[in-house]
Amino acid sequence: MFDTLSPQAPDKILALIKMFRDDPRETKIDLGVGVYKDADGNTPVMRAIKAAEQIVWDTQDSKSYTGLAGDPAFADAMIDLVLSEAVPRDQIAAVATPGGTGACRQAFELVKMANPKARVFVSNPTWPNHLSILNYLGLEVVPYRYFDADSRGVDTQAMLDDISTAGPGDLVLLHGCCHNPTGANLNSVEWDAVIASLQASGATAMVDIAYQGFGDGLEEDAAATRKLVSSLPNVLVAASCSKNFGVYRERTGILMLVGSSSARPLNQSTLEYLNRQNYSFPPDHGARIVTTVLTDPGLRADWQTELEAVRLSMLSLRQDLANELQRLAGSDRFAFLAQHRGMFSRLGTTPDLVEKLRIDYGVYMVGDSRMNIAGLNAQKVPILAQAIIDCGV
Ligand code: LMR
Repeated sequence: MFDTLSPQAPDKILALIKMFRDDPRETKIDLGVGVYKDADGNTPVMRAIKAAEQIVWDTQDSKSYTGLAGDPAFADAMIDLVLSEAVPRDQIAAVATPGGTGACRQAFELVKMANPKARVFVSNPTWPNHLSILNYLGLEVVPYRYFDADSRGVDTQAMLDDISTAGPGDLVLLHGCCHNPTGANLNSVEWDAVIASLQASGATAMVDIAYQGFGDGLEEDAAATRKLVSSLPNVLVAASCSKNFGVYRERTGILMLVGSSSARPLNQSTLEYLNRQNYSFPPDHGARIVTTVLTDPGLRADWQTELEAVRLSMLSLRQDLANELQRLAGSDRFAFLAQHRGMFSRLGTTPDLVEKLRIDYGVYMVGDSRMNIAGLNAQKVPILAQAIIDCGV
């Protein structure tokens, strides 16, 4: 039966990992997959995570099943982290998922179940795996304009024009903060305009929030998501713990469906049903250590301190790169790098020059010129800046 299979296109982000590994050059620079790296190029286990794992190891006396929604304490802790007091708890259905990708997948499955004809509006560009999963599920994708190629910021008017064509029964997918892949984000006034558009059109919003704490701060990065859920009748929120807790391989995430309190029992049981169909019980280990960190005041404070240091280090790398490019180029045409937020910035150059940067200079970035800023350190900033200029970007 399997001779009917045909090869699938490799994931472009994941393909870079192997190409980078196979490159023998010592000067190579990895700006590919979205993983935080410290100044030595390591992705450390965060202090509070290590301590929480020890606590779980010492105290856990069973590995029996949790529930289809995962441990309720994880949902409570994550709802507090992401949504805070934006809406009453009894309006929120939530299930643990295998990472933020699992949450996106379950959200799209839910949309398909509710309305197979739903159109899903996605930013152009968006995280490639959004498109891949939506295509796999057979949902119609409608790109909305987002990135302004000249300013490297958001073309807000074009975005508003495009999402205004969504209607009831459609989904508008938004990045809660730290847009992936561009690094260009809406300000709070622009978010208000997006909310007004969704209120007028009746389309449903979905927020993918995978980098809370990497942009302007933990609270600041959640502000738009909180405003959306408190202003709209239904919002899906897919949150990842991979990056801000550094638990990438544990696959820890959550899907929330915010609606009316009367709809919550049906929403909750439907999300649990979908978990059962796809993988039954969601993974627990990462969720348990995240819960331990969030519910222990000492661990939570230490986690926030370390996360803030990570955020500030990425901001300072952005500024250093923008400064160095300004010095070399003699213009401020790269100033946008310091304005972008989160792990990524879209340089805004051609696939040919991205290829040239890889082949001639050992600089690895995604083909659309997305750079993972966390792949840099103080030594690599001038090397990268020189390569960008020499390449003719
Ligand atoms: C990325 O965008 O690089 C990360 O979210 C990792 C992934 O799974 O693609």
